[in-house]
Amino acid sequence: MVILVKKAFAVIVLLLVAAGGFLVYDQYGKKDDSEGEPSVPAIMVSDSDVQEAQSETTTEISEEEFIPSVTIECKNSDIHKGELILVNRDFAYVGESNTSLSNIYSMKNDSYYVNSTGMLLETKMINAINNMLADFQAQTGINNILANSGYRSVAEQTELYNADLASTGLETSELVAPPGNSEHHTGYAMDFAINDGESYPAVRNEGEYTWIYDNADKYGMILRYTEENKNITGYMAESWHFRYIGKPHASIVKQTGMAYEEYIFFLKKFTFEEPLEYKYSDNEFYKIYFVNQNHDSDITEVPLTYDAITSTAPEAYSVSGNNMDGFVVTLKVDKLSENYKELSEIVTTAPEVTEAESVSEQVPEDIVTETTEQE
Ligand code: DAL
Ligand code: ZN
Repeated sequence: MVILVKKAFAVIVLLLVAAGGFLVYDQYGKKDDSEGEPSVPAIMVSDSDVQEAQSETTTEISEEEFIPSVTIECKNSDIHKGELILVNRDFAYVGESNTSLSNIYSMKNDSYYVNSTGMLLETKMINAINNMLADFQAQTGINNILANSGYRSVAEQTELYNADLASTGLETSELVAPPGNSEHHTGYAMDFAINDGESYPAVRNEGEYTWIYDNADKYGMILRYTEENKNITGYMAESWHFRYIGKPHASIVKQTGMAYEEYIFFLKKFTFEEPLEYKYSDNEFYKIYFVNQNHDSDITEVPLTYDAITSTAPEAYSVSGNNMDGFVVTLKVDKLSENYKELSEIVTTAPEVTEAESVSEQVPEDIVTETTEQE
């Protein structure tokens, strides 16, 4: 019999924890209440294997070392889906893999404006914007942010790209991603402007608006293109372009100052056995690890802890592709291990990234900040 959660996880991104949990319980029975830990073995593939593995693991692994685990089967094509996919000059968006584009206008609250009633965005990004801008308004009284550009089709990106080349005379745009390579295709990116009723300037990190730059990570968003990372991203700094990657990841990116390219490559060195452990706050902890796609099959078995899969907590875990070569798993955990190290101990040098085209020094940087143009 094929492993427990195959069907429940055909679509891998943000899976229904509760449903998965029932399948696990059906197959493996109840937790061992006496110890508060389920007495199930690591990585199991069949009912008979379960019986064998149970007796093997209980005798060979001490209770402290033992992390009960299961695997889920993910389609290799799903490495192109999820909120952590890297889309840049080197890694194109793999068409139409958006999982839940929604209409932002119909979901928005009253704390901001949307520039078109038809604008689409991934639901998680809409929720993040709603929460962030409601809190921004509560803190500052400002409600004039304009959600200016969200999901874009390749055809829309082509128009913007050609218009930018025509206006700058450049052969390669420093401001607009080539069609097919824009984060806007993912539905996880938003350009923010200010609705001043006139020129709709790009939002900038100044005045009361600094609150957004200081707090976006708490809602799972990062400022994607900065002065500091332009030689990595290959784009000029964009004070308006925010990308959703989820709360713990956004927090790490902000704290370390990595470009998203650097971060997604950095994660590749962490495994299920030796994950990145992150203390988000005094009572919120995460384990994050990478699983290489299986090149011998269309399916990759992704390990998860038994606790995560049986948890009823809303964000107990998520699995996202990285759009390159595998999956990133994010587990919310009750405690960190004895091996836990502070981020500053782990991130000592910037990880290598696949080279993106560097930004030309010929292009005046104030082309962005002195105009209302947002791409
Ligand atoms: N302005 C960003 C790079 C885009 O066009 O996606
Ligand atoms: Zn943008």
